[in-house]
Amino acid sequence: MNYWIAPSILSADFSRLGEEIRDVLTAGADVIHFDVMDNHYVPNLTIGPLVLESLRKAGIDATMDVHLMVKPVDRLIGDFLSAGADIISVHPETTEHLHRTLSLIREGGAKAGLVFNPATPVDQLAEVIDLVDLVLIMSVNPGFGGQAFIASSLTKVADVREMIDASGRDIRLEIDGGIKADNIADAARAGADTFVAGSAIFSAGADYETTIRSMRDALASV
Ligand code: DX5
Ligand code: ZN
Repeated sequence: MNYWIAPSILSADFSRLGEEIRDVLTAGADVIHFDVMDNHYVPNLTIGPLVLESLRKAGIDATMDVHLMVKPVDRLIGDFLSAGADIISVHPETTEHLHRTLSLIREGGAKAGLVFNPATPVDQLAEVIDLVDLVLIMSVNPGFGGQAFIASSLTKVADVREMIDASGRDIRLEIDGGIKADNIADAARAGADTFVAGSAIFSAGADYETTIRSMRDALASV
């Protein structure tokens, strides 16, 4: 299995953001998870397209996995496409017309992701699965790093894994929130292939390479 580890820069030191990203990439990260929050859809405020653009200008060419927690979401999609996003994921609650939003992302040349909160049913995926390149299951309520993993999200991962396999499409299944070396294997066994980890990597105290290696070791046991 081609597992991806996606450090969330939400828990990075923002005063040294470019350096932090280079460090996690050197330490073995596969993609960079970029959390965008608006203090409206979620009760926190983070970074926008200007920051992504600056990172691109600074020569960071890693895959950027942009997780939009903003409402309304459509107007920002063009800005993130221009700034250099590779994957743009949206929550269904942030748009009136999900089909249009996912189409906007793909027509702009990025991969489209659909995100489900702990209390959001996944049925809607069936209606738009042909427009989706990634499904993101939230294993915490969106808004903050460092929250406790919600175990019932594993059932949701397993349900979505079945839907993806039945579709025959090439869709990544990502999990976000409370992922650490001691539960990453459970998420993989449920069917996830892409693992966001913020505080577990950036706030662990250990060096990034050690932490990422412990996650890969856990995945190797699956
Ligand atoms: C939460 C964000 C996550 C967050 C995860 O709303 O979407 O990406 O950074 O942080 P940890 O890994 O600390 O739970
Ligand atoms: Zn996220």
